[in-house]
Amino acid sequence: MKRIICPIIMAMAMLCLSCGERQKKYHIGVSQCSEDIWRFKQNEELRMSQYADPRIIVDIRSADDSDQRQQAQIDSFIQEKVDLLIVAPNSREALAAAIDKAYDSGIPIVLFDRKTTSPKYTAYMGTDNYQMGLMMGQLIASQMQGRGTVVEITGLKGSSPAIERHRGFMEAMAKRPDIKVISSELGDWTEKSGERAMENVIATYHGPIDCLFGHNDRLAMGARKVAVKHGRTDIKYYGVDALPSKGGGMEMVKKGWMEATCIYPTRGLQLMKLATDILDGNKYSKENILTSTVVDQSNVDILLSQNVEQQRVSDDLRVVKSKLDEYFSQVNIQKRVIIGFVIVLVIILTLVVVAYRLYIAKAQVNEEVAKDVVAPADAPKAESPFLERFRNILQQNLHDADFNVERIGEEMGMSRVQLYRKIKSLTGMTPVELLRKARVARGRQLLETTDRTISEIAYDTGFSAPSYFAKCFKDEYGVSPGEVRKSEE
Ligand code: FRU
Repeated sequence: MKRIICPIIMAMAMLCLSCGERQKKYHIGVSQCSEDIWRFKQNEELRMSQYADPRIIVDIRSADDSDQRQQAQIDSFIQEKVDLLIVAPNSREALAAAIDKAYDSGIPIVLFDRKTTSPKYTAYMGTDNYQMGLMMGQLIASQMQGRGTVVEITGLKGSSPAIERHRGFMEAMAKRPDIKVISSELGDWTEKSGERAMENVIATYHGPIDCLFGHNDRLAMGARKVAVKHGRTDIKYYGVDALPSKGGGMEMVKKGWMEATCIYPTRGLQLMKLATDILDGNKYSKENILTSTVVDQSNVDILLSQNVEQQRVSDDLRVVKSKLDEYFSQVNIQKRVIIGFVIVLVIILTLVVVAYRLYIAKAQVNEEVAKDVVAPADAPKAESPFLERFRNILQQNLHDADFNVERIGEEMGMSRVQLYRKIKSLTGMTPVELLRKARVARGRQLLETTDRTISEIAYDTGFSAPSYFAKCFKDEYGVSPGEVRKSEE
């Protein structure tokens, strides 16, 4: 039995394993410090990377510019045991401990765009913010021809791009003694903070302002809104980010509201590739510095049209992806139905095989028992005392043609029906069949061991006619009593 069931169970297990076998997934947590159009673009790209690599599952959360919220967020990513964490830390110092904790717990950390004060990270990707500040400072200085006044509005205090952009910008200004930095106003990356900063400048400084450098485009545009409100239309604006989307820096340059900005690349796909390289154990660089480009009237049209093209490709990709998802979900349903069907079939087959084996085994046992029962009285004892008694009664009365099932029942102290049921369940045969078998068996024994005629033997074994004895004999042994007798001679 084991020989049949084991392979079936193994086949089923393999079948289940093969359907359950899933590709390993990478759960990648993304902790964004803010939610704005720059982050929105990057988040879209990060989500797109799931199309290119189906192993990736991204979980993007935003801390809405709050250090505490981001600390808690990183903590929950640690609890959830993500495979890798991508973080843009809101500020340098406040997030260092939370990120160190994740790193120390064994989660690879990829920092992007911003850094902390700690060296505990697996890789960094982003632009060199010091270089960007320097580049924009040099551009502004050259457009001012080395003289005039400028206002700077910084990003969030304590965030690494604000610190580095300021350092680069001030370094460029330090080389131009005829340019006066009227004020470095504190912003927090939002347009509103740009507005507040400009209100402050206008309230405290009444001289001319030639240029304004915002650490991002939103700060510059917030400042412009306030300046225009105050009738100050002579200021030139510069920023960082140059987003191609609606309301982004490229649109501002195109409208002439901003002189120039520079691209702060989002590169979500590249960032995710770095993450999967780390997880796959591939070679990767720890520091991945992205390059930037200045956007002004000379190149804004071409850059915007390139973006339209890129957008179209992404939209097409999204449509293809949703069609593929639909298709695969159909295929999955069909696969499950087929697997279910195969499993049921295998179970049914197993049961049929087991039942068949049990039936055969029972039939063999019955046959053995029946053989015992009809064996002559001097044969070894039958298996159970009941059958032994039954056999003895049969053997003692075989010669009697009137001996029948009722009489056996009487002698055994059972009704005809009780006797029938018990004998049938023990031997697979009815008492009548056994009586006939026993008579024929005795007949054969007499044929082989005595000189009595076939007719005499027929009557001696309880048959009412020799012809009937001959028929039963042939049914049992496939040869007639005459043939057996002849072969004896
Ligand atoms: C987006 C943003 C950008 C800026 C960058 C600095 O959240 O504020 O505008 O260039 O972050 O980290």
